[in-house]
Amino acid sequence: MRKKIVAGNWKMNNTLDEGLKLASEVVNMVKDERKGDVIVVLGTPFIHLSQVSKLVNSTKDVYVSAQDCSQHESGAYTGEVSVSMIQSTGAEFVILGHSERREYHGETSEQLAEKLDKVLSAGLTPIFCCGEPLDVREAGNQESFVCSQLTESLFHLTKEQMAQVVIAYEPIWAIGTGKTATSGQAQEMHKAIRKHLATKFGDAIATETSILYGGSCKPSNANELFTQPDIDGGLIGGASLNARDFMGIINAY
Ligand code: PGA
Repeated sequence: MRKKIVAGNWKMNNTLDEGLKLASEVVNMVKDERKGDVIVVLGTPFIHLSQVSKLVNSTKDVYVSAQDCSQHESGAYTGEVSVSMIQSTGAEFVILGHSERREYHGETSEQLAEKLDKVLSAGLTPIFCCGEPLDVREAGNQESFVCSQLTESLFHLTKEQMAQVVIAYEPIWAIGTGKTATSGQAQEMHKAIRKHLATKFGDAIATETSILYGGSCKPSNANELFTQPDIDGGLIGGASLNARDFMGIINAY
């Protein structure tokens, strides 16, 4: 079913103590103040997953996500973290293909396809990120760029698998820059993404897929974005590091 999701992406921020404090602030606010039926996810660094999962699992109001995983199951991959390790912490989501991973760690579409398979076979929910850089947007090629990202990493999935995937559209020029896509620009891309998914998986799966917007989303612009017909929530970086701001986005529907 198409769900409304607001997911925080803490990136490489917060020591363990700071992260636990932030997570408990969010959990308490969600318990007391959440107005709608939005699913709230905290995307923490690996070291927080276990303890934040324990903290949120007592409430079931908030879910926990890793920010990446290895495409390998186990073995000699120093520094990597497997999907079964993530699963053993109680986390239920995994962000995949964030533009920072693609850019700084050279992640390819092929690797992401393998990571998706691992996440799905463990029964976890992938939040698959896509989005174009500024030069592609300026050349007007954003739709074909993003559709290729989807084709390359997702189009080998079965319909049943695709039904478990959440997409996050994050124009790279809007990430952490304070430059949000206008609600019109975002809606246009979300609609194009849904149409592209339909060409492979059919209308029913495309209609049911949650597509989140990411890129300088904040309490002041979230409502305008989230009320667009093809936008089903957000992947929030900077504003997820402050519980009050994050709550403002959660309640923006
Ligand atoms: P931002 O980051 O909200 O700080 O722009 C979004 C993201 O990278 O997921």
